[in-house]
Amino acid sequence: MIDLDRALDLDDPEADDFLAAIQGNIVKGHGRDFTAHVLLRMGDDVPAVRRWIAGLAAERVTTALVARRATLAWRGTGGPGEPFAMVLLSASGYRHLGFPDEQLPVPSGRFVGPRDREYFEFGMKEQAGRPRSFNDPPASEWEEPYRQRIDAMVLLADDDEQRLSDTVDAVVASTAGVADVLTTERGRVLRRTFPRGTLVIEHFGFQDGVSQPIMVQQDADREIKARGNVHWDPTAPLSLALVPEPGGGFGSFMVFRKLEQDVAALHRALRDLSVRAGLPVAEVGAMAVGRFEDGAPAVPTGTVDPDADPNDFHYDQDPAGTRSPFHSHVRKTNPRGDVPRVIGAPAEFERARRIVRRGITYGERPDLADGGGTEAPATGVGLLFMCFQGNLDQFAIQQEGSDSNDFVRAGVGVDAVIGQNAQPAAQTWPSDGTVTFTMANFVKLLGGEYFFAPSMAFLRGL
Ligand code: HEM
Repeated sequence: MIDLDRALDLDDPEADDFLAAIQGNIVKGHGRDFTAHVLLRMGDDVPAVRRWIAGLAAERVTTALVARRATLAWRGTGGPGEPFAMVLLSASGYRHLGFPDEQLPVPSGRFVGPRDREYFEFGMKEQAGRPRSFNDPPASEWEEPYRQRIDAMVLLADDDEQRLSDTVDAVVASTAGVADVLTTERGRVLRRTFPRGTLVIEHFGFQDGVSQPIMVQQDADREIKARGNVHWDPTAPLSLALVPEPGGGFGSFMVFRKLEQDVAALHRALRDLSVRAGLPVAEVGAMAVGRFEDGAPAVPTGTVDPDADPNDFHYDQDPAGTRSPFHSHVRKTNPRGDVPRVIGAPAEFERARRIVRRGITYGERPDLADGGGTEAPATGVGLLFMCFQGNLDQFAIQQEGSDSNDFVRAGVGVDAVIGQNAQPAAQTWPSDGTVTFTMANFVKLLGGEYFFAPSMAFLRGL
């Protein structure tokens, strides 16, 4: 029996069967450059909906085992690789398919609180106004498709954009008489060339997708060899993202948020701050994110390989927030030792709150094309944020960390990159310094939902 409290050992004789029984993109990202997120409301013919999902599982959905083999083959040959697909259901989707609330997936693990199942059961729209709600705009202000009941997401991904469009057309056509397509979001990876190489970035211009919990022991060993682990161990148990399903398989909770980025405003704030602080824009950018644009952490890293993404650092190296202030995005969202040091919680509690990010950028950037010429956008671009976790309360880092003025230390202000707060406290640059400024509300939620990625057996058996 695979032990969820450890990283997966691929040499375990049961590893292949375990990976064949779960969907891809949870234990390891699908890694494709283009995505389509088809959001659906199921129709009244429930047996037909069930047959349709079972058919998708049989014909298109990529198991974690197939995804892993495809990645290995792709590394050998390059090229467009294989298409990827997964199916995710919201609580309303389960209910519509006939599952009573007692059979909805529930979080599990050592640190699960009595109300943690509420996130999934209420759904993201219903959370607004409840005691555990985020500082999100109310659902009435979200984009129109997200105000509807969202029952499912079919996530399609490919390195060949045309082939992806063909797959989307085929999947959308197959929903006739079964489900309404509320919207299809399209993601595309954004890259930028730095002296260190061409790296995946987000719209503000910083390298993204660097620091991830790694749930396969051999992948973790490889990463530690390249990036080091003097300060930080990226390894994570499978239970960080996977939970037992009521029917006997394993699945994962997923947060989906369409986040619009006001790139013009953030760049303006960094320029203003650079003038006020008498520091280069690159330095103040690193104080907001906790990393420089090329991914180099603001805290010195133990990573020695110049080609590796640097990730070997810990905030015990910077307890006063001199290098990476408490409001910096990566410190708010993965406080690497702050919670045990300042609050006294066990280190394992903090590590169990990590999330597995699988988001992708959306929107066009003509201003970044050769010759550019146009202004950085204030709307129309952003992140199709997705993260997997075994307990949706792990995502409380948005509310308790990023949106809060008081995380770890009182009055440090919100996350300078993604913090949403109508009354943001002034941040200090650096945390024990004298330059004060307010950076907040550059990222806006346009809509989203909580989903669960069921096991292959669950999907096939519908
Ligand atoms: C890391 C940008 C939304 C959680 C990062 C990094 C960047 C970034 C540049 C550093 C590179 C890396 O370690 O991968 C953004 C932008 C966002 C966004 C522009 C919105 C448009 C979010 C949200 C969350 C989140 C909503 C969760 C609440 C994290 C985490 C890390 C990270 C956990 C890794 C921290 C670490 O392990 O050191 N993000 N992010 N991000 N972000 Fe975000």
